[in-house]
Amino acid sequence: MITITNLTKTFKNFKAVNNLNMEINNGEILGLAGLNGAGKSTTIRATTGIIFPTSGKIMVDNYNIVTNKVEASKHIGWVPELPNFEPDSKPIPLLKYYAGLYGIKSKDVENEIVELMKRFDIYAYKNRKLRYYSQGMKKRFSLIASMMGNPDNFLFDETLNGLDPQGVKEVRDFIIDLKKQGKSILLSSHILSELQNVADRIAIMKDGAIIKTLTRDDLKNLGTTGIKIHVKNPDDKIDNLLSNFGETVSDGYYYIIKKTENADPSEVNDELVRANYKVDYISMENETLEDYFLNMVR
Ligand SMILES: Nc1ncnc2c1ncn2[C@@H]1O[C@H](COP(=O)(O)OP(=O)(O)OP(=O)(O)O)[C@@H](O)[C@H]1O
Ligand SMILES: [Mg+2]
Repeated sequence: MITITNLTKTFKNFKAVNNLNMEINNGEILGLAGLNGAGKSTTIRATTGIIFPTSGKIMVDNYNIVTNKVEASKHIGWVPELPNFEPDSKPIPLLKYYAGLYGIKSKDVENEIVELMKRFDIYAYKNRKLRYYSQGMKKRFSLIASMMGNPDNFLFDETLNGLDPQGVKEVRDFIIDLKKQGKSILLSSHILSELQNVADRIAIMKDGAIIKTLTRDDLKNLGTTGIKIHVKNPDDKIDNLLSNFGETVSDGYYYIIKKTENADPSEVNDELVRANYKVDYISMENETLEDYFLNMVR
């Protein structure tokens, strides 16, 4: 479990993190979303102990990351945003070295390393120096490195980025396994649909603070609903027709009538048919997490 209380991190006069409070419970995946520069990585880096809070307190399984860093660090697995390793190392010796930092003997961890490298499809490259690993291979290696010492808390900073679709699925399943084992997991991501797939709660960060935390129930019922429409023969008059029912936007393919508490899709459909549009899709849709997020952070 990780508890962050009133965390502030200032660089010169700039507050990258501003009085942030956050709790990641055992067996919970907390998604962290925010625009570039919102302060996600700074929060994560402070939690790993590699940068010091300007003020506030971070507890990892009851160990204070500042005053008891050695013990607290043993309880954290971290996959940094841009993994960077000893470029001339080969994966297995380096992983054994990491395990050694937790006091684990290399022969005791050998099998686990091989299993994990197979699970994340990098075993075939066991003799290749990390310098020559591709971006996705480095991510996979980094994920395995975070597992050494079997910590109870994980900080995944944009870990799904840069992975191929198979890698995304493997890592997603893996994160869910960790949750089932009772681990606490923080996952920052710009892929909001991914967060929606796995997170128990999603914290939205802006200007160094959490401005909203959404539960799974909140996610089911985001904001207002709209009517989503596609016609086979759109023209420049359709906007006018649709805007009689409410504010209308288009994403280039679908038209969406926003905030439609009163509008009825069948009425919209009738009106479109009467005007000789060929409607091949019409449906009430909830606001997506992306819409909601962009409204919140703008
Ligand atoms: N060492 C530093 N010195 C000065 N400013 C910094 C430092 N580290 C981070 N910042 C600033 O703090 C702010 C938050 O950065 P951070 O990396 O935490 O954002 P982020 O939410 O992870 O963004 P992204 O989505 O782009 O990864 C940014 O304005 C960044 O420039
Ligand atoms: Mg970041």
